[in-house]
Amino acid sequence: MFSKTLQDKIDRAKARMTPTKLGNVEFASPLLLAPMSAICNAPFRRLMEDLGAGGTVSELISCHGINHGNLRTRNMLKLDPHEKNVGLQLFGEDPNAMALAAKVANDHNPKFVDINMGCPVKKVVSKGGGSALLKDTSALGNFFGTIKKELTIPLTIKIRTGWDSDHLNADEVIHIAKEEGVEFVAIHGRTRTQQYTGDANWEYLEKMAQISPLPVIGNGDLHTATATKERMEKTHCPALMLGRGPLRDPFIFLDSYIKPEDQIRFSALDYLEVIQKLFDYMNGHTDVEKTLVIQMRKHIMWFAAGFDGVTHFRRGLFNHNNVDETLKYTENYFNDLTQRGMAFKRIDHSQAFMTSGHG
Ligand SMILES: Cc1cc2nc3c(=O)[nH]c(=O)nc-3n(C[C@H](O)[C@H](O)[C@H](O)COP(=O)(O)O)c2cc1C
Repeated sequence: MFSKTLQDKIDRAKARMTPTKLGNVEFASPLLLAPMSAICNAPFRRLMEDLGAGGTVSELISCHGINHGNLRTRNMLKLDPHEKNVGLQLFGEDPNAMALAAKVANDHNPKFVDINMGCPVKKVVSKGGGSALLKDTSALGNFFGTIKKELTIPLTIKIRTGWDSDHLNADEVIHIAKEEGVEFVAIHGRTRTQQYTGDANWEYLEKMAQISPLPVIGNGDLHTATATKERMEKTHCPALMLGRGPLRDPFIFLDSYIKPEDQIRFSALDYLEVIQKLFDYMNGHTDVEKTLVIQMRKHIMWFAAGFDGVTHFRRGLFNHNNVDETLKYTENYFNDLTQRGMAFKRIDHSQAFMTSGHG
């Protein structure tokens, strides 16, 4: 639980959320946290569910790592018992290796197993995984079918719009997936060639949502609650997925439901509580202090984006190498913001943020 003041705001915002069902997968609401490598581990996913994400997906996990019994990879499969609506995402190119790994993932009891078909990174694509799977659609029926056979829970996919602008083939991929019993598809509205440049192609996503035989989750560039609200009002997608937005604004899910008459705003002290909560969750997840500090620093830097004096604060963050000092330094900054009457932040969205990733 958060403080009574913050928990009250969260509960009031959550009262406006409605559960949604995509295929056979139920979510607490139609705004989901997108998978992000080295970010969407169990503590972060749990925090985002606390803060209104209707469901979450793990970072991409290598099927080969799982099958080889790699300890680091196997640990990625572990869920927090408090997580409710979580999927585990696997990547790989070989149907049999993926099927074997999917069975192991299934045994960890997520709500669904998701296949990464959007990763643009060379190391993954050159082996035929990630977005390379969109290239040879003739192999996809067997690929999905082989994996699906090993699962007792739903199979889902996350794709891009296509390999490049001359090959926008999400509709073809979706039809094959539907035939093989896939439950839903999340689409990042860019091609592989685009990587993270340009804008997400919402026109195409909306078209897909209208013609697709599977529920389509629209994804890409919903960086603010305002943009998310606007999209929710007009979209044909039964759900939307947010990746980078929640990294700098952990209240983006809640804010997307809040109405002006609710008079709810999240302040510096709320951000501080979120940081402390994430630390609590991470503390249970890793007991190596150095790892904990590095991971926390990353999130603190993102969460602090847009607050007054953040550049100076960030510089100082690197002078602290243990958890207690890092938290104390952070507490002082957020308390000071409040005392100086600078409790609210404004993020400059004209600056690019995180322009590489695995999907
Ligand atoms: C740092 C980072 C890591 C990512 N890792 C994954 C991943 O593991 N699996 C995946 O399917 N997509 C991954 N993605 C893509 C996101 O899920 C999402 O599709 C993309 O960021 C666009 O959504 P956004 O504009 O809301 O961030 C990653 C993106 C980023 C920025």
